[in-house]
Amino acid sequence: MMAGTGKILATLLLGLTVSVSSLAAEPVTPKLTDKLSLLLQKEMRAVQGGMTSIHSAMVMGQHEIVADNAQQIHDSFILQQELTDQDRKDLRSAVPKGFIKLDREFHELAASLAEAGRNEDTKEQQQLFSKMTGNCIQCHSKYVSDRFPGVKSVKD
Ligand code: HEC
Repeated sequence: MMAGTGKILATLLLGLTVSVSSLAAEPVTPKLTDKLSLLLQKEMRAVQGGMTSIHSAMVMGQHEIVADNAQQIHDSFILQQELTDQDRKDLRSAVPKGFIKLDREFHELAASLAEAGRNEDTKEQQQLFSKMTGNCIQCHSKYVSDRFPGVKSVKD
């Protein structure tokens, strides 16, 4: 009897957690320190510029430019650069694990895109470019909804 009730409760609770976590998460922006926010914005503008250059180079078959820009995006990983130990602590306490995971995934995709550039593989470049764009949208819709309320989630 008791075990049965416990099981139902557990299932209910699990359902609750799952449905809460699939809603737009709280924006991370208000929780960032000024320094982190500025660094992130700087990185984002660089990423945006890089993606634009990659897009043009990709459609014109300029593989080296694709590779160079993708490599630069990969290397801009803010979680590994320009951060003091204190910044790292601040970041960890400001953003949920899902955010760090998305950022890491995004930079790994950039490394693969650089590789596809070096391999002169246009098809692979197009697929990775699209996956990366999906990551921009996913992170912005989930964690930057305060600044970008118009971005709808593309994940179900
Ligand atoms: C892991 C999360 C994450 C990913 C992935 C991500 N962004 Fe962002 N982006 C942010 C956050 C957070 C901000 C807001 C920073 C702030 O205002 O403090 C932001 C802001 C921006 C801005 C505004 C910068 C400014 O000057 O204020 C641009 C442009 C941008 N992102 C482009 C992109 C593009 C393009 C991609 C994908 C190629 C991307 N982002 C992927 C988290 C992400």
